[in-house]
Amino acid sequence: MKRLRTAVIGLGRAGTVHARTLAALPGIDLVALADPDPAARAAFPGHRTASGLPELLTLDLDYCVIATPTATHEPYALALADAGTPALIEKPLAPTAEAGWRIADAFARAGVVATVGHCERHQAPVAELARRLHAGEFGELWQLTTRRQGPYSGRILDVGVALDLVVHDVDLAAWLAGQPVASVTAAARSLAGPYEDTVTAVARLHGGVLAHHHADWITPFTHRIIQAHTPAGVLTADTVAGTLTHHTNAAAPAAPGVFRGVLAGQTRRIALPEREAPFAVEHRLMRDALLGGADGALVTLDDGAAAVAVTEALLTAAATGRAAAVRRRQPAPA
Ligand SMILES: NC(=O)c1ccc[n+]([C@@H]2O[C@H](COP(=O)([O-])OP(=O)(O)OC[C@H]3O[C@@H](n4cnc5c(N)ncnc54)[C@H](O)[C@@H]3O)[C@@H](O)[C@H]2O)c1
Repeated sequence: MKRLRTAVIGLGRAGTVHARTLAALPGIDLVALADPDPAARAAFPGHRTASGLPELLTLDLDYCVIATPTATHEPYALALADAGTPALIEKPLAPTAEAGWRIADAFARAGVVATVGHCERHQAPVAELARRLHAGEFGELWQLTTRRQGPYSGRILDVGVALDLVVHDVDLAAWLAGQPVASVTAAARSLAGPYEDTVTAVARLHGGVLAHHHADWITPFTHRIIQAHTPAGVLTADTVAGTLTHHTNAAAPAAPGVFRGVLAGQTRRIALPEREAPFAVEHRLMRDALLGGADGALVTLDDGAAAVAVTEALLTAAATGRAAAVRRRQPAPA
């Protein structure tokens, strides 16, 4: 079977995990690594390294990972699309929805496979919640609540907590609900500056689902939950503990669409199937898609751009104090 030739540009926290994941994945050759910082390159003795993308583009790659700061995603992505090289682009896809749509257009025009690093879909508790929710096991989704809190890394210097963390959860909300976000209200505060360090938002999805999002990097412990309210009760995916818990609704079942009321029921832990780490799932899906397998589970660039558009609306709402509609991608002129 053909082995895929891969490379990573940007050897910081995310890029290092991508490089280690690719080096360990069957059917993949990690051909080269690039970073302008010599110290970052020095962390990979024995690997071919380069200071930038031009050298990687001479290596006949089957795909390249972009794990550089968000502000640099677009130029690298457009260069890869232009070269016909498939790409895994870290989240957020780009700093603006426009830039995200330009990247999506470039890969669509070139007919080249690309995906965006919304790896939280592949967290075991979240993937199992999605599988069961999408199978209709819990009935209609009423609302979602997400919390993504932790210490201040000091690494992310080009965007605030919304584009760094909330972007994960606005992607999860649209994916779990199967509905795009229509509008957002939000409030944010900046402590370290210049960007927001804490943000709280309420999104209204097109089908009526509400999503409450909170994220900050001013919490001295890591807390990450995605909670789904349904007629069957509340499902809580905790990606730090690695658990999925069901608080059942003891109220008598009713016909679909009829509100049955909510009474405290049992609490049960849902068993999770063994699952690889989220980055390993991403690369396995990319490998299989490039080897002609199904690409259905790949997060699309349109999804990535939509998550950025929601986050932009969220920041507008926080700045104006008014609800902000989420901009939709304008169809390309005929
Ligand atoms: N999916 C996830 O869970 C996840 C986790 C962490 C980071 N990320 C994303 O990955 C990207 C990188 O974040 P990080 O936390 O690894 O940051 P980081 O600061 O740890 O690493 C960034 C690396 O990029 C290099 N770099 C800087 N400018 C560059 C340029 N112009 N060209 C090439 N390389 C350049 C730096 O030298 C550094 O080694 C961001 O977009 C971030 O949002 C995603």
